Amino acid sequence: MFTNESDFENRIVAPEFTPSDHDIETSLRPKCLEEYIGQEKAKENLSIYIEAAKTRGESLDHVLLHGPPGLGKTTLSNIIAAEMGVNIRITSGPAIEKQGDLAALLTNLNEGDVLFIDEIHRLSRNVEEILYPAMEDFSVDIIIGKGPSARSIRLDLPHFTLIGATTRSGQLTAPLRDRFGVILRLELYTPEELAAIVTRSAGILGIEIDEEGALEIASRSRGTPRIANRLLKRVRDVAQVMYEGKINLTVAQDALSRFEIDELGLDDFDRRLMHTMIRHYGGGPVGLETLAASLGEEAVTIEDVCEPYLMQLGFLARTPKGRVLTPTAYEHLGLTPPQKANPQQQLDL
Ligand code: ADE
Repeated sequence: MFTNESDFENRIVAPEFTPSDHDIETSLRPKCLEEYIGQEKAKENLSIYIEAAKTRGESLDHVLLHGPPGLGKTTLSNIIAAEMGVNIRITSGPAIEKQGDLAALLTNLNEGDVLFIDEIHRLSRNVEEILYPAMEDFSVDIIIGKGPSARSIRLDLPHFTLIGATTRSGQLTAPLRDRFGVILRLELYTPEELAAIVTRSAGILGIEIDEEGALEIASRSRGTPRIANRLLKRVRDVAQVMYEGKINLTVAQDALSRFEIDELGLDDFDRRLMHTMIRHYGGGPVGLETLAASLGEEAVTIEDVCEPYLMQLGFLARTPKGRVLTPTAYEHLGLTPPQKANPQQQLDL
């Protein structure tokens, strides 16, 4: 189905940010912790740390946010800055090419400011080294000149808060990870939390939707607010043209099946992945790289984008021998799971 990379990226259920998400995300983005739905554990911890830092008149400790894409890491960072009453500078790991780029960002911060680095696992080692003294001692060493006459000068920085976001915390180096005082993992949202987000978004966008319609969109959004908001927009189009503008259960079901998103939010790519595992690898175990090559997709995309949701559904397991489909996945596809070897027989071998 997806014959090239851009088809895959254009999946309506892709959790990554696309330019068409920009308008909707900026208008729907909650502005304070109170408006932010879900992630209760992270929110509770954050509000304590924020209040404590504010009471002491200090900057907030450095924060690492990790978890699958589309869960609101950027949104949460903006909220942290707003709650602290400071400015936020936003950049990303791949955008910082040289040590000097990061030094320039750091020296332009004001006291208490937040520096948000998205995809922080993609910082080069060279650049990362500048961060260590910046995070620990609020200072930066700048080399002036070249060759034998080069000398290093140390500049003091304002007390700032670094917020790093990553989908792959395992790829962070230990020295970087150790310098974050607060490490928060964002989890996939429950359908009920997503339904609350869909209802809130519909209110802001002036879309009429009932509870069942919101829950239907929520249940097919793979635990991801970005997907829920995107589906809401597309379902609205169908409601407007085919129905009377109002979204209810029937309208949501009709619209979502037109987009070939099943009742669990799985699309054609997910089904192809599961069918490939069954047809070519007997349901697994199969190595990630082998599977990726069979599907013509990047291993990291499968790992970061498809697998978290399939694992949350209990359809897929990561084992030391490779990926394995569970009987539940077979049942969802209307297939009979293979018979497990009798455990007693295995012991007799
Ligand atoms: N829009 C996107 N994510 C949200 C969240 N967690 N709460 C409220 N609205 C959102």
